[in-house]
Amino acid sequence: MNKLLPTFAAPPDGRLSAEMLSAFADDGVIVLREFVTVEACAALRQRALELVAAFDPAEVRSVFSTTRQEQLGDSYFIESGDKIRFFLENGAFNDAGELRQAKEHSLNKMGHAMHDLDPAFDRFSRTLKLANAAASLGFEDPVILQSMYIFKPPRIGGEVVCHQDSTYIYTEPESCIGFWFALEDATTENGCMYFIPGAHKSPLKKRNYRQANGTLVTETLDDTPWPEDQKVAAPAPAGSLVIFDGRAPHLSGPNLSDKSRHAYTLHVIDRRCHYPAENWLQRSDELPLRGFDA
Ligand code: FE2
Repeated sequence: MNKLLPTFAAPPDGRLSAEMLSAFADDGVIVLREFVTVEACAALRQRALELVAAFDPAEVRSVFSTTRQEQLGDSYFIESGDKIRFFLENGAFNDAGELRQAKEHSLNKMGHAMHDLDPAFDRFSRTLKLANAAASLGFEDPVILQSMYIFKPPRIGGEVVCHQDSTYIYTEPESCIGFWFALEDATTENGCMYFIPGAHKSPLKKRNYRQANGTLVTETLDDTPWPEDQKVAAPAPAGSLVIFDGRAPHLSGPNLSDKSRHAYTLHVIDRRCHYPAENWLQRSDELPLRGFDA
């Protein structure tokens, strides 16, 4: 029987206890139940669906249709660091080029700057409770680099292979920590995350960066496979916050169920650390990074 990930009732003021910090140091991940209310989760889901309603999938449909347009697809992604953009699931379209499911059940994610561009996402992302949690984790000058709304739609929600987020969100020294909110119950049936406890003590195995020609590459630094037989499920009722180290390897299975698994993530880095110009996510000067202050 697999062990459980360290799971706690969320501290009312967000300040992590010595026990929580010790578990985070040991396992690289902690689950905090009822960090936000189910009402706040429902309100954010509602706002996400309003943004989806204004999105025309035909704009992105072409991304998948030809090789040339796949390059357009790359720029659609690469330029999304300071925008709100929509990314479809691979299985979203049928052979006739029509969406198989409703629009909100065809999306993989929305990203990457809702927290700075949309007032409802801004409010959800900037609370004293989160600021206190980040301070407990040792951030001196935390900034929210990116936000993602993960739809994990029923039946076509894709698998995510084992990875470390610091591969994509790299600073020197490394400072990335993920804050993952379950907006709906995440279960082993609808594609919850899995972690390999303690494996965040491994080196960074891959690094993604922009090449001189502007395209992205993921370089393997260490090809030792992850001990995925040691993975532990992270089921999370709506309102839970999963906090995990940028080096913590994690994955999720496909969603083959008939229920969606919406989640919202923030990736936080420390402004004191060097942020390389080769990282995929670059902000324009018009939208400077901000911390947790409302
Ligand atoms: Fe990840």
